[in-house]
Amino acid sequence: MHIRRAPDVQSSEITKEDHYLNRREWIAAAVAAGAAAGFVPQTLQALTQGQGPVATGTPYGLQKDDKPTPWEDVTGYNNFYEFGTAKEDPAQYAKGFKPKPWTVKVDGMVKNAADYQLEDFLKPAKIEDRIYRHRCVEAWSMVIPWRGFSLSDILKRAEPTSQAKFVEFTTLFDPRRMPGQTMRVLDWPYVEGLRLDEAMHPLALMVTGVYGRDLPNQNGAPLRLHVPWKYGFKSVKSIVRIRLVDKQPRNTWNLSAPDEYGFYSNVNPEVDHPRWSQATERRIGEFSKRKTLMFNGYADQVASMYTGMDLRKNY
Ligand code: MTE
Repeated sequence: MHIRRAPDVQSSEITKEDHYLNRREWIAAAVAAGAAAGFVPQTLQALTQGQGPVATGTPYGLQKDDKPTPWEDVTGYNNFYEFGTAKEDPAQYAKGFKPKPWTVKVDGMVKNAADYQLEDFLKPAKIEDRIYRHRCVEAWSMVIPWRGFSLSDILKRAEPTSQAKFVEFTTLFDPRRMPGQTMRVLDWPYVEGLRLDEAMHPLALMVTGVYGRDLPNQNGAPLRLHVPWKYGFKSVKSIVRIRLVDKQPRNTWNLSAPDEYGFYSNVNPEVDHPRWSQATERRIGEFSKRKTLMFNGYADQVASMYTGMDLRKNY
């Protein structure tokens, strides 16, 4: 995605992205031309609208022209470096990954530390289908019908002590099962963090599924985070540990390129990435660019958490 010390990887990635977009653009143009002629070939229509399951769920923060991104894009165009750095790698190389059985450790500054089997971990959770906007730091976006529950459901059960100020999340480290971890493209395991009030916000979602199905491996099975007002790299996949701490946790992309990726990573069209603009984004599966919205369209719900903070400094 954004590894500076390997320019060859980057340029090949860019080429792949171009191919991908060209295919999409070609389809969009072909469908538009077909529609104008009153005729849409069946196969093109199927590709454009998606052949997967139909999205259901409560829309959160959607704009009037937001449509769910087709299943094949949500599950075929991924960032999950544990399974390779190209967008199509995770779907291919995570195929044989077994996300069950799965243990989640909850520890640190909590009254009720425990190692949970996934099923027990999920017990107190109120699982819902919620359709969220998803904005990657690479200036593309999707609309995704997730299945999951508020992270706060689980944190309340853990009972953070009064010292706890942040939450740290860690991805599984197992290079035999995650072949990308045999390469030193990132400092493994992938770690991320939130301030405790961010983690307690009802929009912060622990994800267990998508499009009404169990989470595919490439999307972070069996358990990943999605924080819809932040750039996608905050949304850590295949979580094995949730630790309550008193200091701001380290986070993987900040460790990798501190001048490019911060801790807060709130979606902000006014603060460009040093190498590209964040003012617009490309909706995967669509032809034209869209304006990026402050906090990815969730400002009414979340802006008050950042009152008094300089969001240019705290990017
Ligand atoms: N989590 C782990 N463990 N490894 C990763 O490489 N990539 C992040 C995030 N979580 C990543 C991760 C990035 S950059 C994005 S944009 C989202 O996952 C992509 O989620 P998606 O593939 O479900 O759209």
